[in-house]
Amino acid sequence: MLSVIVMKYLREHDEDHDYVKAHKEAERIDKRDRVILKNAEERRVFEEVFDRQTLMTLHNLSNRGAFSYLNGVVSTGKESRVYWGVKEDKTNVAVKIYLVASSDFKRRAQYVLGDPRFQRFRRDSRGVAELWARKEFTNLKQAHEARASVPKPETYLGNVLIMEFIGKDGVAAKKLTDIDVSKQDYFEIIKQLKILYSKAQLVHADLSEYNVFKFEGKIVLFDFGSAVSILHPLAKEFLQRDLENLNRFFKKRGFKTLNTENIITKVSGKSHEEPEEWDDGSGADNQGPA
Ligand SMILES: Nc1ncnc2c1ncn2[C@@H]1O[C@H](COP(=O)(O)OP(=O)(O)OP(=O)(O)O)[C@@H](O)[C@H]1O
Ligand SMILES: [Mg+2]
Repeated sequence: MLSVIVMKYLREHDEDHDYVKAHKEAERIDKRDRVILKNAEERRVFEEVFDRQTLMTLHNLSNRGAFSYLNGVVSTGKESRVYWGVKEDKTNVAVKIYLVASSDFKRRAQYVLGDPRFQRFRRDSRGVAELWARKEFTNLKQAHEARASVPKPETYLGNVLIMEFIGKDGVAAKKLTDIDVSKQDYFEIIKQLKILYSKAQLVHADLSEYNVFKFEGKIVLFDFGSAVSILHPLAKEFLQRDLENLNRFFKKRGFKTLNTENIITKVSGKSHEEPEEWDDGSGADNQGPA
């Protein structure tokens, strides 16, 4: 861009051949343009998240004491942004804003059609973003009340969900992807899936190494927007996929894993055995990493 501006300037000021002056002027224009471009990009991103109605929602939540200010962004996903919120008593909360602009109902439909808890919602993009905030809140509440290890949900309004901040000083806890996992982590996650299924009556449906924290030695499952009731006709398929994702990750890290069919029977059955006691008959000794 700079050279184009220099050329243009030189053409316009050809009579005095003052190249040094030309170059300085070009640099000045370039700097100014860069600031304008940066501001425009920042404004575009800002407006994409904080449209008028979302700003009103945040204002209302703040008036209710859900948080007193936002202290920075934690994550910028395609469909949501997570902010570090601080309450009046200085406790941290995670403020998850579902983006209205990228609410793709087609992709999300499978996680809601068939779930008896969510029959009525608006199918425009705001309606879908709001449905997702409500759905993730409801899922977290059911999971938390069943004593599963998840961020404690605080409240929601419109397309904004407020929950316990897992991490410290605005820095989110590490995920499985960022740590050396252990055999105990594997069994702890399965135990959590059993609590989810049998007590909270939920299947996570988007389980992966990216949606599990390990914080202060404890496994915490999160990102519950997709989770469905066990009454959903595809609940078992979603559970199967969650377990395949889990096994794939732990295998990649060198661990032997249990057979998914066997885990499903145990997770969804009435057995009170702890996962560590299960034997799936496959000869896997679970002593990984191999
Ligand atoms: N309760 C929380 N406490 C702290 N950080 C959180 C919390 N919830 C989410 N985060 C952070 O925000 C990121 C995105 O959250 P989440 O996975 O719930 O949203 P998502 O819509 O799936 O976004 P992505 O597409 O980036 O996965 C997480 O990876 C984590 O870093
Ligand atoms: Mg996620």
